Amino acid sequence: MKTTLSIIKADIGSIGGHIKPSEKLFETVKSYVEKKGKGLFIDSYVGYTGDDIAILTTHKRGPLDSKIHKLCFDAFMTGTKVAKSQGLYGAGQDLLVEAFSGNVRGMGPQVAEMEIEERPAEPFLMFAADKTEPGVYNLPLYLSFCDPFHCGGLLLSPVLKKGFKFVIMDVAYTKADRIIELVTPEETYDIAALLRDTGRFVVESIWSRATGEQVASVSTTRLHNIAGKYTGKDDPVMLIRSQKDFPATGEILSPYTIAHYAAGDCRGSHNVAVMPVKKNSSISFFDGPVVVSALAFSMQNGILTEPADCFDHPYWDYVREKSAKKTEEMRKQGFVGPAMLPMTELEYTGVMETLKVLEQRFKTRAK
Ligand code: F6R
Ligand code: MG
Ligand code: MG
Repeated sequence: MKTTLSIIKADIGSIGGHIKPSEKLFETVKSYVEKKGKGLFIDSYVGYTGDDIAILTTHKRGPLDSKIHKLCFDAFMTGTKVAKSQGLYGAGQDLLVEAFSGNVRGMGPQVAEMEIEERPAEPFLMFAADKTEPGVYNLPLYLSFCDPFHCGGLLLSPVLKKGFKFVIMDVAYTKADRIIELVTPEETYDIAALLRDTGRFVVESIWSRATGEQVASVSTTRLHNIAGKYTGKDDPVMLIRSQKDFPATGEILSPYTIAHYAAGDCRGSHNVAVMPVKKNSSISFFDGPVVVSALAFSMQNGILTEPADCFDHPYWDYVREKSAKKTEEMRKQGFVGPAMLPMTELEYTGVMETLKVLEQRFKTRAK
């Protein structure tokens, strides 16, 4: 009997701007899920990263199940009432529709789901990022699944050596899901050619070529593509199974040592270094920086252990310091060049409006 892992997450309001949900809001969502989900799911975990609340459930109902999705949507709607009553900022901001229909895809919340045949021991990781876009995971996924510098298993395990299938989505295409399937190791350079463009091509899922099993699932929704205007950065979530025929947990975490630059941060309009953070962390500097949390779970028959907080280790204090330094270096050049995102990616319309006005004042001069 297969087990489904579902993460559904949303920003429904936070304290003092876009920092973190209030305790009352967080507890409201958590207790709603626990009370109303009885008999529907097997187990659940609710946590937050920055201003986003993520609900993880395990169940037997398959991906895109309307009852699981409605439970989470209703939990966020109930939370929104509390957020409004407390005067939290951006109350309900990720709920782009008021009435639930079918599943939450396209309604604002981020979704990452996987239906799996449970192994006797089933370790997996739940990632949640704030103040950034789904493409933030492109580089770490490429390095964990294609590069022996980070995944020694690609050399050391004959199973991993068979490679992986990447399903990549063109998130600029909004009429339907536009996807491409590419396999490693043969098409690794083609994968790289797409994944370099983090605003457009995003990993949706990864599959083992040796066993056919799904290894990773990433939320790919881009809010401004759905809403047609800025309603906050997407703040993606991700599930990755680890160990044995898949990369080891350490090989999945290894790329985060780079603190790579990613789009987002203040007004969703800058490039700063990704900072790995502990569970239930807030954001701060420059409405950020871009943060990512990683919780490891074990599971048996859908029942979860408590999470092990992957970035709560002295090693990551060093990475956090490096990440802050990298962000500061980029911030020193403010709005110039790579510090601020290109025109097509800017979330606020101010620059565009200014340019429209200035356009009238340009004159041409004979050479
Ligand atoms: C980034 C983010 C914040 C806001 C900024 C201004 O994803 O949510 O950086 O963009 O605080 O917010 P508003 O426009 O709501 O005043
Ligand atoms: Mg957020
Ligand atoms: Mg937000």
